[in-house]
Amino acid sequence: MTRATLLDTYVTGIDRAVEALRDGRLISFPTETVYGLGGDATNPEAVAEIYRVKQRPASNPLISHVADLPAAEKLGVFTDTARRLAQAFWPGPLTLVLSRHPLCPVAPAAGADLGTIAIRIPAHPIAQTLLKQVDFPVVAPSANLSGYISPTRAQHVLEGLGDEDLLILDGGPCEVGVESTIVNCAGDTPVVLRQGGITAEALSDALGSPVRARTTATETPTAPGMFASHYAPRLPVILNAVTGDRNTAFLGFGGIDQRAVASLSPTGDLTEAATNLYHLLRAYDRAPFKTIAVAPIPDTGLGAAINDRLRRAAAPRSAARNSAPPSTTRESK
Ligand code: TXA
Ligand code: MG
Repeated sequence: MTRATLLDTYVTGIDRAVEALRDGRLISFPTETVYGLGGDATNPEAVAEIYRVKQRPASNPLISHVADLPAAEKLGVFTDTARRLAQAFWPGPLTLVLSRHPLCPVAPAAGADLGTIAIRIPAHPIAQTLLKQVDFPVVAPSANLSGYISPTRAQHVLEGLGDEDLLILDGGPCEVGVESTIVNCAGDTPVVLRQGGITAEALSDALGSPVRARTTATETPTAPGMFASHYAPRLPVILNAVTGDRNTAFLGFGGIDQRAVASLSPTGDLTEAATNLYHLLRAYDRAPFKTIAVAPIPDTGLGAAINDRLRRAAAPRSAARNSAPPSTTRESK
């Protein structure tokens, strides 16, 4: 039986969501990247509930979301680089990892005892309105079971977490469609920990020099949460495919769409492909298909984040990772 409640009336919906957050309950809300599973970051019980609901390993820390820079400055120690990136890209799909401010009120359990804190100011109007109305940061991982594909529509949240007592604010499809870019600015030189909605080219332009990327995806906690196998559908994924057969859900791109079931972008537009990526992976992650195959995606701009997610979706699945997807699609109530 579905317990989650889907709300698409923003005025009363946001009020109810604010009330739920203040009571220590969880909500799901849209951001421009993906839907988040939000809770009061200063409330250890709300934080524990997020880990339980997502079945997320405690070693994988959470991002704290706030409405503006003054609120962010209470959480982390801003280096010059962090300030420049914040000015260039906030509000927006950028997360900064900083040294934790001595007075940071975020519950330690949200940070996996790292001494650093990940901070994001989302641009989505619903997220902004919500965050402005609470006087605490909101921790919000993507609102999916750990290891499965992130949700870019309210319906995706219902499919995965519909059994939870959860308010879901429906803001329609997420515009960016892939998660935020994470840049570690705690040290002397910035390092990209996760590619995402802000491209490497845009980061370099803002800083006047190329930004180093973390090179390998490992199963070790040096880069928490960035497991080689992640963001993965149930079906095996094949990359750089040029056609499909009847057992294959072939997702085309640009002109490469022979026997495709759908196209990430018929015109070869990477922004459109990022917006569509998770919805299409979810939509075709089912019988009668036995495999999902994806056309080659150029590795420039947003293509780098798309290819990163596709490589993780195609990576061998480890036993440690929870890839259990929703078994049925549930109706909203
Ligand atoms: O776009 C997004 O970032 C979305 C929306 C909801 O804001 N959130 C999201 O959260 O993708 P999540 O929990 O699914 O991914 C957060 C990533 C994880 O890989 C985690 O390991 C990393 O951020 N992270 C969090 N705190 C960190 C820290 N202190 N140091 C390094 N990585 C950190
Ligand atoms: Mg996630």
